[in-house]
Amino acid sequence: MSRPYRVAILGATGAVGQELLELLDSRNFPLADLKLLASARSAGQSLRFKGENLTVEAVDDNSFNGIDIVLASAGGSTSKAIAPKAVEAGAVVIDNSSAFRMNPEVPLVVPEVNPDAASEHKGIIANPNCTTILMAVAVYPLHKVKKIKRIIAATYQSASGAGAKAMAEVQAQTSAILEGKQPVAEIFPYPLAFNLFPHNTPLNEMGYCEEEMKMVNETRKIFGTQSIRVTATCVRVPVLRAHSEAINLEFDEPFDKNEAREILSTAPGVKLVDDWSANYFPMPIDATGRDEVLVGRIRQDISHPAGLELWLCGDQIRKGAALNAVQIAELLVEKNIVKPKLALALT
Ligand SMILES: NC(=O)c1ccc[n+]([C@@H]2O[C@H](COP(=O)([O-])OP(=O)(O)OC[C@H]3O[C@@H](n4cnc5c(N)ncnc54)[C@H](OP(=O)(O)O)[C@@H]3O)[C@@H](O)[C@H]2O)c1
Repeated sequence: MSRPYRVAILGATGAVGQELLELLDSRNFPLADLKLLASARSAGQSLRFKGENLTVEAVDDNSFNGIDIVLASAGGSTSKAIAPKAVEAGAVVIDNSSAFRMNPEVPLVVPEVNPDAASEHKGIIANPNCTTILMAVAVYPLHKVKKIKRIIAATYQSASGAGAKAMAEVQAQTSAILEGKQPVAEIFPYPLAFNLFPHNTPLNEMGYCEEEMKMVNETRKIFGTQSIRVTATCVRVPVLRAHSEAINLEFDEPFDKNEAREILSTAPGVKLVDDWSANYFPMPIDATGRDEVLVGRIRQDISHPAGLELWLCGDQIRKGAALNAVQIAELLVEKNIVKPKLALALT
């Protein structure tokens, strides 16, 4: 039997936090106990876990005493302020925010791609950006066979990528429009219902937004190579949950679409959805709530002899955030990278 770990979820009331709770239960993570942390706003709130009510506590400097693993999903500024305190208290932090992803001291891990990086942690392990995780799971199995030279990505990102309140905002906007009223935009800069807009993160001097640069930089770090050229256009669409991505890959030599399909049909974390006779390919409604990244419409790029096109959908709250973090926690347990303090105390 696995030894039990003391785990804290920071950001337990959020979209990712809720999914973390569900996954720790359904995957039977070896828990001694579970602490739910958020801001003072939601302290005292009850959340269900394994049939019991757990009370959310406001995070403070003493929150991490005795904790083995922290699953953090409370935004970058909270992680920057809180994660070092958790590490100081002896916990390993798996962080869903962008705060530490490009820090050379911090491993950036997708378990299907670079699981060994987790053992190099110095207290913090970063969970990559959600669109990047989904793309990495789908294209790495091909990269292992023939090297990818260049990736051109276009994303269609759901409202929930911006959190629970953003998802509620799009639902309210949709109702307002159907009732003939003006939609109200507070979380997003513009109405998203019946609309779409380029990802609203800050733009750099080259005209790329932060989300696009995350795909560029994080893919290289996860794949362990600076030589892959990546460009992306990220767009927010009025889908509630699950991101979609159109991916163009250029390899160093031609890659036959049937071979690619064969490889992806057994790739870890991938489900092939590629039914040409029925014109049935991945859709966000099919990806919602699923662990796997759905991949299909695999075809030769008619504009390039070594190009391949594919289309994917993945639940970005699940594999793009919570599931990836729980898989990293499972790696820490399986490979004995983190030893539970409770067991140490008993020996
Ligand atoms: N949503 C996604 O698809 C997705 C995917 C990948 C990564 N992420 C990342 O995961 C993180 C959480 O995203 P989310 O979508 O779950 O956001 P969310 O629904 O807005 O939830 C945010 C959570 O953080 C807590 N929080 C905010 N400020 C805090 C503070 N100062 N101290 C303690 N807790 C605080 C909130 O608690 P209160 O209830 O008290 O406000 C809430 O539990 C973000 O860094 C995001 O970039 C999200």
